[in-house]
Amino acid sequence: MDAVSNASPATSAHTIDPSFTDYKVADISLADYGRREIALAEAEMPALMGLRRRYQAEQPLKGAKIVGCIHMTIQTAVLIETLIALGAEVRWTSCNIFSTQDHAAAAIAAAGISVYAWKGETEEEYEWCLRQQIHVGGEGSGQLWDANLILDDGGDLTALIHNNYPQMLDNIHGISEETTTGVHRLIDMLKKGTLKVPAINVNDAVTKSKNDNKYGCRHSLNDALKRATDMLLAGRRALVIGYGDVGKGSAQSLRQEGMIVRVSEVDPICAMQACMDGYEVVSPYNAGQNAGTAESINTRLLQDTDLVVTTTGNYHVCDKHMLAALKSGAVVCNIGHFDTEIDTQFMRDNWRWVEIKPQVHQVYRSDEDSDYLILLSEGRLVNLGNATGHPSRVMDGSFANQVLAQMYLYEEKFAELPVDDRYNNLYVKVLPKKLDEEVAAAMVEGFAGVLTKLTPEQAEYLGVPVEGPFKPDDYKY
Ligand code: NAD
Ligand code: ADE
Repeated sequence: MDAVSNASPATSAHTIDPSFTDYKVADISLADYGRREIALAEAEMPALMGLRRRYQAEQPLKGAKIVGCIHMTIQTAVLIETLIALGAEVRWTSCNIFSTQDHAAAAIAAAGISVYAWKGETEEEYEWCLRQQIHVGGEGSGQLWDANLILDDGGDLTALIHNNYPQMLDNIHGISEETTTGVHRLIDMLKKGTLKVPAINVNDAVTKSKNDNKYGCRHSLNDALKRATDMLLAGRRALVIGYGDVGKGSAQSLRQEGMIVRVSEVDPICAMQACMDGYEVVSPYNAGQNAGTAESINTRLLQDTDLVVTTTGNYHVCDKHMLAALKSGAVVCNIGHFDTEIDTQFMRDNWRWVEIKPQVHQVYRSDEDSDYLILLSEGRLVNLGNATGHPSRVMDGSFANQVLAQMYLYEEKFAELPVDDRYNNLYVKVLPKKLDEEVAAAMVEGFAGVLTKLTPEQAEYLGVPVEGPFKPDDYKY
């Protein structure tokens, strides 16, 4: 591990600044490679770079001190440098032990930005990184950073600060949360009265979930499977568990590789959508009833399945009985946020693991040579563990929303409210639709698309302003 840095973000010939040691990455010598890829990504992120140009002079984030915990990828590097360009200071970690791109982390550290992240952290190292991030100069200094904003993906940093460092919340204006699972956690906290600062639900911006969760997974799931296994997918049978946004993108990703795709769902609306999209809706349980027993498993289906992908954000949707019943040689992976979807604990406790390469394991269920499953990323999100996640074009929308959310929270200045007023000003909400439309417009422009303008007569006929918003808040895209 390296702990020396470089202060020149924009050039490829770096001068190392040995006095900057407030970071930990795998290999600082990857910084130039990371910087070259960041330059490519910037060209693919028109909405985010547009925000940089539009607000740089105004410096709306001047004085903002952001602790960010989101996959430390090349795309995240562009997000980080946009926040900084708008005036913020940041300290960063990754929200997953396998998702860091080491060249991206190196480039960020080399630019003099505190980052604690590398690919292949242990769970203890992951917790350690989060603690370094919230202390100036790392935990050893004993000095908590006076952060005033949280940017989170999945809610681990939010939980750590609420549970272990609640004094930091006195200074914090709010949280912007990236993903479905993190938003579920925030809503739960709000209901229980344990959420102490307001939160922007970035996930449910249309320009986030309808792009990232769906088209992002369409791009990155088959990429991950191919990088991990080098197997031909065509003609094989896949079971996609869950048909929400991530499930829809995942099913499409496999279909476009020529796989025969089946879907399982608990929600009749999503199951109906799967039927309409031309997938067979099946259940891994006989007659759809999960009795928690081996007898309730639809063995016929699982013996006819070459790949299982969990996409639900739920718990044990690929349970021990399903794992035991699956066809030998089947690939098993998860693309939801946490590693709770597949019962990997059962696999660890009962079966023999052979590492083929990092994030690819053969898990032997018996002494038979052919009786194994191929488990990817140890059940953690496969597209970031076995590949590089969503492409820049997709993350452009997600991260433009993150920047707007941070600007919104910083302008609202929740932490400056009198203490008695704070309770009545807590929320978990999405940004106004107008901002979603602005991000979308910038993305369309990035694709060289041309929007049609409503005429005043047409706008009046529809009952919407000529400049939008064009749909009511509850419109389902
Ligand atoms: P979603 O709520 O839109 O979809 C989840 C679906 O799973 C729902 O339709 C639900 O009915 C279904 N489901 C729940 N339990 C089930 C069960 N037992 N069997 C079958 N179906 C079941 O959520 P989403 O936005 O699609 O996100 C799913 C997960 O993916 C979340 O954890 C989210 O944080 C994560 N995510 C990952 C990435 C990534 O890049 N890997 C990107 C975005 C979101
Ligand atoms: N989530 C999915 N793909 C991602 C990426 N490339 N960067 C950051 N977060 C992501």
